[in-house]
Amino acid sequence: MSAVALAALIRERQPCVVLTGAGVSTESGIPDFRSDAGIWADVDPFEVASIQAFRRDPRRVWSFYRDRIDVLRAAVPNAAHHSLAELERRGFVSAIVTQNIDTLHTRAGSRNVIEVHGSICSAQCPGCLSTEPADTVLAQLEVRSTPLCTRCGTVLKPGVVLFGELLPLGAMDRATDLARRAGLVLVVGSSLEVWPVAGLPLEAPQFAIVNRGPTALDDRAVLKIDAAAGHTLAAVVDELG
Ligand code: APR
Repeated sequence: MSAVALAALIRERQPCVVLTGAGVSTESGIPDFRSDAGIWADVDPFEVASIQAFRRDPRRVWSFYRDRIDVLRAAVPNAAHHSLAELERRGFVSAIVTQNIDTLHTRAGSRNVIEVHGSICSAQCPGCLSTEPADTVLAQLEVRSTPLCTRCGTVLKPGVVLFGELLPLGAMDRATDLARRAGLVLVVGSSLEVWPVAGLPLEAPQFAIVNRGPTALDDRAVLKIDAAAGHTLAAVVDELG
């Protein structure tokens, strides 16, 4: 019943922009952050994923991200990613704004994807602002605990937005503009706890949520489906024909 209602909402309220979080990738074997088995249940994000931690102890931050990069690169898109790519191909989804750094939406075939928290594809040099591809970084991490910029020798920073950092220039502006011009924002697999991205649904005239468990904006959603993303989105694809 709920997939039928969501399909009708997507059909009626075009354009539809999708906002995804870690919950869209758990069915690919990637843990999320804040559910009971989430990453932050075992480690303090401000010790391993903040700009202050990077400046204080880059080895610890790279040790965390080295493991993350291995897990994310080994993962493959699941039914949720494929369903969203199919909805884009059929013209029902105009863009995906993702908080995820795993590149699974792109790997599933989605084309209009805005990665507001960066991605694991590269690392950035705080010294000369250049970027290094992940393969170069991983090769260095085989023999040293922190990768260095091949141009200026500065310790590289993971190519993701750390706590305490600003979002990539332009990404949030584009995402906000898309939400404001949308007929519907569909949130999939996010607790909506991390601002400013968590505020995106409020920029749209209406938003719906597919999420296992509560989110911070449940009471303001036009529709909330408390269920698994993969199964729900596959049912929406079937319903839209
Ligand atoms: N289907 C639907 N929902 C799911 C599924 C699933 N298969 N698996 C998990 N969820 C739900 C969880 O119950 C949780 O409510 O997805 C939500 C994920 O929320 P978070 O773990 O908080 O992840 P996210 O919202 O993406 O976090 C935002 O926080 O730590 C930072 O930078 C990190 O981008 C991340 C940001």
